[in-house]
Amino acid sequence: MSDMQKELIIVLDFGGQYNQLIARRVRECSVYAEVHPYTLSIDKIREMNPKGIIFTGGPNSVYGDEAILCSPEIFELGIPILGICYGSQLMAHMLGGRVETAPVSEYGHTEVKVDKRDDLLFHGVSKETIVWMSHTDYIAQVPAGFEITAHSEVCPVAAMSDPARKFYATQYHPEVVHSKEGQQMLRNFVYEVCGCQGDWKMDSFVKTTIEQLREKIGDGKVLCALSGGVDSSVAAVLLSRAVGKQLTCVFVDHGLLRKDEGDEVEAVFGPEGPYELNFIRVNAQQRYYEKLKGVTEPEEKRKIIGEEFIRVFEEEARKIGAVDFLVQGTIYPDVIESGLGKSAVIKSHHNVGGLPSVVDFKEIVEPLRLLFKDEVRNAGRELGIPEYLVARQPFPGPGLGIRIIGEVTEEKVRIVQEADAIYRKEIQKAGIDNSLGQYFAALSNMRSVGVMGDFRTYDYAVVLRAVNTSDFMTADAAQLPWDLLAKVTNRIVNEVKGVNRVLYDCTGKPPATIELE
Ligand code: XMP
Repeated sequence: MSDMQKELIIVLDFGGQYNQLIARRVRECSVYAEVHPYTLSIDKIREMNPKGIIFTGGPNSVYGDEAILCSPEIFELGIPILGICYGSQLMAHMLGGRVETAPVSEYGHTEVKVDKRDDLLFHGVSKETIVWMSHTDYIAQVPAGFEITAHSEVCPVAAMSDPARKFYATQYHPEVVHSKEGQQMLRNFVYEVCGCQGDWKMDSFVKTTIEQLREKIGDGKVLCALSGGVDSSVAAVLLSRAVGKQLTCVFVDHGLLRKDEGDEVEAVFGPEGPYELNFIRVNAQQRYYEKLKGVTEPEEKRKIIGEEFIRVFEEEARKIGAVDFLVQGTIYPDVIESGLGKSAVIKSHHNVGGLPSVVDFKEIVEPLRLLFKDEVRNAGRELGIPEYLVARQPFPGPGLGIRIIGEVTEEKVRIVQEADAIYRKEIQKAGIDNSLGQYFAALSNMRSVGVMGDFRTYDYAVVLRAVNTSDFMTADAAQLPWDLLAKVTNRIVNEVKGVNRVLYDCTGKPPATIELE
């Protein structure tokens, strides 16, 4: 925890898929929350002195061989606890209640009736409210001291509480948006039950971080790999505010960026821009095209692009000489994901993770490691970074290299850049850019016959993709208005040479992924 705010909520992770979301929702209430594994020791919890603890959901059952339990001492600390889903069953089980396989599992939107309207968790919440359920076990009997505070048609204990000990539990997931008044319940927990005041604010984060960076760096030299994405941009501006020209940003234009993107990054961070820093743009386009010649396999492409990035960066770093600090744009989800869970590698994501070993430096600085993505954007706004950079949609490290199926050529890069620019422009004009999770054009390696004027064509098919997602782990294809798709199609086939067909990708994730490779 940083020392800039006093109030902390600990989210103890029992393997639930919404662990990060719970912390984000708490932070949206202006209270700082951190995710830790359920094995966090009691001494450590005492030392961290949280205002409250939240147990997440999890895939296990509290009474099977697979049960994962926390130390019973946690209930003796005098700290308020909210148990969610598995967390609620764990609380019931460990405090002497009974958990069983539910005769009817509940999954999805469910109406619950609040039985105890004056329960602190339900302040300002309707008598009947829609929540998100996802469970096969349920609490059959509440422990001594607890009262049932809400139920659903098939779940007798949808929520329970023991106000004297400040223990609260919900069988449903208040953190997901489908729980209509879930945010109010979390708010009630942190403010009414835990007594928080709300001291997690972005303006003080920015101010304090700049001061801390100044103190840490002193008169040292700092090196930053700037991609123009949100994280590295915000990290670079924080550093520039803190130590000005002691910072050098290296921006590698690998020729796989979106249309005009290299110039846009240079306009903001280069010598004509508003920030005090040293900016180096490396035009490595041809070098990348050479390396990618004849390569069609997606993982191989990713590997080449990642490795080449390291080589280019290394060469620049060598010219600069030894530095004291290397900046990494690590954000909190990276910290949680690398520290807590393990999941199968579907794609080897490229970021600057490989850099430390190739650059001579003393220490890594990660000024954003406590922030979620939306908080990074807000910090960027605090710092006055232009909205088009701060609100930028995610763009993969390997860039257009993985949006061109098959071999990457300069010609194909041009086609996908032009098509993507038209698509993005039209989506913005339609005013729906902020409501989509991610949208872009890609290039299939399919060529097909068409007719233009009186001539036969044999050209490429562009694929348009737009998805709605809250976490990028799962996504639904967005239902774009037909008029918009027709307009984009018309413009692309007319304006982009080499394209005679436009396809819309209707697949969700899973089974597809968001990017095409
Ligand atoms: P997928 O295609 O795996 O994408 O469904 C999920 C999200 O991750 C982004 N993505 C990447 N980001 N390096 C990145 O920094 C990568 O190699 C990479 N591959 C995919 C993708 O744009 C989407 O937001």
